[in-house]
Amino acid sequence: MVLYDIKNATNEELKALIESSSNDNQLFAAADSVRRRHYGDEVYLRGLIEFTNYCKNDCYYCGIRRSNRQADRYRLSKDEIMQCCNIGYGLGYRTFVLQGGEDPYYTDNRICEIVSEIHSEYPDCAVTLSIGEKSKESYQQYYDAGARRYLLRHETANDAHYKKLHPNGMSGAERKQCLYWLKEIGYQVGTGFMVGSPFQTTENLIEDLRFMQELMPDMIGIGPYISHSQTPFSSFTGGTLELTLRMIAILRLMFPYSLIPATTALGTVDATGREKGLKAGANVVMPNLSPVNVRKQYELYDNKICTGEESAQCRGCLERRVNSVGYRIVNSRGDVRR
Ligand code: 5AD
Ligand code: FES
Repeated sequence: MVLYDIKNATNEELKALIESSSNDNQLFAAADSVRRRHYGDEVYLRGLIEFTNYCKNDCYYCGIRRSNRQADRYRLSKDEIMQCCNIGYGLGYRTFVLQGGEDPYYTDNRICEIVSEIHSEYPDCAVTLSIGEKSKESYQQYYDAGARRYLLRHETANDAHYKKLHPNGMSGAERKQCLYWLKEIGYQVGTGFMVGSPFQTTENLIEDLRFMQELMPDMIGIGPYISHSQTPFSSFTGGTLELTLRMIAILRLMFPYSLIPATTALGTVDATGREKGLKAGANVVMPNLSPVNVRKQYELYDNKICTGEESAQCRGCLERRVNSVGYRIVNSRGDVRR
């Protein structure tokens, strides 16, 4: 039965699984049992601090791309970032994810200062960076400053598809190279892709799985593609809840040890999308810890949730949501269990 030996599934078997909804119930149940075997009912928190929406890149799908003149840009100071950590620590967060556009203002020195201050003030917390493509030397410096995890979605493993999503000057090969450098340095590495991005085929999704079978990332973040009205891809339809859930379940079966977030994008396409993601095999949630007054500005796609006043404490909201589907948030670093 392909569900229980999915690592050895052929491309044809994967294609059948990805394209049909008839196995979904079985698939989700199998994914949940594998997840429980490895992680029980635990769900890990990552406090997401979106510290800059300036970006030098121009990815066609992204709302904070450089050419979007209508984006209202902001940067957080080191003190503001430390304030987010302080609030987060009090709420039980033991992982902080610094995510931002590729913003040259944050030189390696500035990043290292921020990382080492968080690291020394909160030695029991993991510092995760998600700041894009850098040189191997830069990644090494951040590591030496105390960063131990890095998130960099590969976006698509197929080079031709990658070119359709990005302007000249960006390449899938360079992005993959970054991921291998991060692994070599010793980071816990997270990668991932959007489900239903423009021009994506089932074959592309299978290539994503094959690439990750080679990379063996610690964390895999996927979410539906959602159009942003101020991008060249504004008229494309988005990825579906159903396909995203199916891909989450396949990931859990293929990478039983992995950390898989129920993403904000999943919660945006469906009011209980994150809960459904947990039931399909996800075991991480990444509540927003950014100051409420800038949240609306980190808009990668339209209608992003958790950006209003009512979301000041996503922690409490998520606790209720996680409990409602039979899991439990734990206040730990939530390291990978290989
Ligand atoms: N829809 C969904 N996800 C998006 N991302 C960027 N733009 C969009 C969009 N329009 C994802 C990318 C990126 C991550 C931070 O957000 O995969 O790596
Ligand atoms: Fe952010 Fe519910 S998780 S408002």
